[in-house]
Amino acid sequence: MKSYYIYTYGCQMNIADSERLAHQLESVGYAPTEDVNSADLILLNTCAVRELAETKVYSRIGELKHLKAKNKNLIIGITGCMAQKNQAEMFKKAPHIDIVLGTHNIQHINEMIVEVQRTHKHQINVDMDNTVLQELVAKPNGTFFASVPIMNGCNKFCTYCIVPHVRGREISRPVEAIVKEVTELGAKGFKEITLLGQNVNSYGLDFKDGTDFGTLITTLDGIPGIERVRYMTSHPQDMTKSMIDALGASSNVVTQLHLPIQSGSNDILKKMNRHYTVEHYKELLEYCRKTIKDIVVTTDIIVGFPGESDDDFEQTLQLLKDVRFDMAYTFSYSKRSGTPAATMDAQVDEEVKRVRLQQLMDIQNEISLEINKTMEGKTYDIIVEGPSSKDENMWFGRTSGSKMVLFPKDESLKIGDTVIAYIDKAQTWVCYGTIVK
Ligand code: 5AD
Ligand code: SF4
Repeated sequence: MKSYYIYTYGCQMNIADSERLAHQLESVGYAPTEDVNSADLILLNTCAVRELAETKVYSRIGELKHLKAKNKNLIIGITGCMAQKNQAEMFKKAPHIDIVLGTHNIQHINEMIVEVQRTHKHQINVDMDNTVLQELVAKPNGTFFASVPIMNGCNKFCTYCIVPHVRGREISRPVEAIVKEVTELGAKGFKEITLLGQNVNSYGLDFKDGTDFGTLITTLDGIPGIERVRYMTSHPQDMTKSMIDALGASSNVVTQLHLPIQSGSNDILKKMNRHYTVEHYKELLEYCRKTIKDIVVTTDIIVGFPGESDDDFEQTLQLLKDVRFDMAYTFSYSKRSGTPAATMDAQVDEEVKRVRLQQLMDIQNEISLEINKTMEGKTYDIIVEGPSSKDENMWFGRTSGSKMVLFPKDESLKIGDTVIAYIDKAQTWVCYGTIVK
């Protein structure tokens, strides 16, 4: 039996695609292996959102060269956003790879493998069809948590972002297909699902029949076995009050919202092509906090976007203090060729970006800790996810708001159990607790 190994980089969408690649490979007899050195097929499912992501992939590809020298039948394939972005150029940089497969073509993986075996030549398919969305079966990595893509692509064209260029236009999956998948997952014992899309708030708008993200959320309420429905990522421009009402009314949607703001300066938001203001964002969040009890809010922020002045940056710091996110994912602006921001004037110096990023993180960490401290002495429902990566005697689970709670390993607990945890001590990133039931 032949074996495969998949490295997944980047976002949850890539994790979901890897699960779909795995299913296809297993349908023709490949078996997964934990040992990359003995694999017959290695896939790198890549990310292109920042330059660092690409650098990591190229260095990994370089490391695989010696395996190819040892086993001339080894097949190496590059899939995902970087494959779509760099296309045939990847063969020039790394001739030892065999397959370059774009984001709209993962359903062709098995044919590509057969062609490599037959011809021993490079195979590439980076065609994009923005009119169809493939229904592909997944092999979920876990047994209790699964991700469910609800749409593909993005129509927003934020000026810094490569995603619309490599994932194509928004296409939504039919409601019935999503309900079917979630129902099957529930029946198989999955408890927690994550609905995925680059911009979930524009889900269904392409059907032009009144369907939207709110109606999807309402439809998914009450599917047997599904205790938690997560969703990401939201966009402040498309999130409406009726969607927030649907999220608040649902019995299984979690109390977590990831709502990227990107910058606290209206001038910068405009240059980013984000189409909302800080004032609109704050109003939206106020409505969310009023409608969804105990909501945990996280965000994404980019520092050093072209033209970001000290004053613009100060406004971002002020925003953090005003809004008080539970957590912020902070990024230093990275030039992506082919995007408008890459050629904008007034690119910010790397050292300035580094200092700003640190300042931002320092302020946010303080806020995260203060918010987490308010959890001490309270109890939360958590679903057990298993041993922590740092210490196998400590297990962890997550609250509905996705806060990580660590607790001493308890033989009577299994992965996937829903239990109540009492929070003894909170830190910036995690809490320590005791299982009370
Ligand atoms: N540089 C830095 N950060 C970026 N992001 C997207 N494109 C870039 C870029 N060129 C960030 C945004 C987005 C997150 C997933 O990655 O904040 O929300
Ligand atoms: Fe990129 Fe903006 Fe689309 Fe998000 S909404 S994927 S940041 S273009």
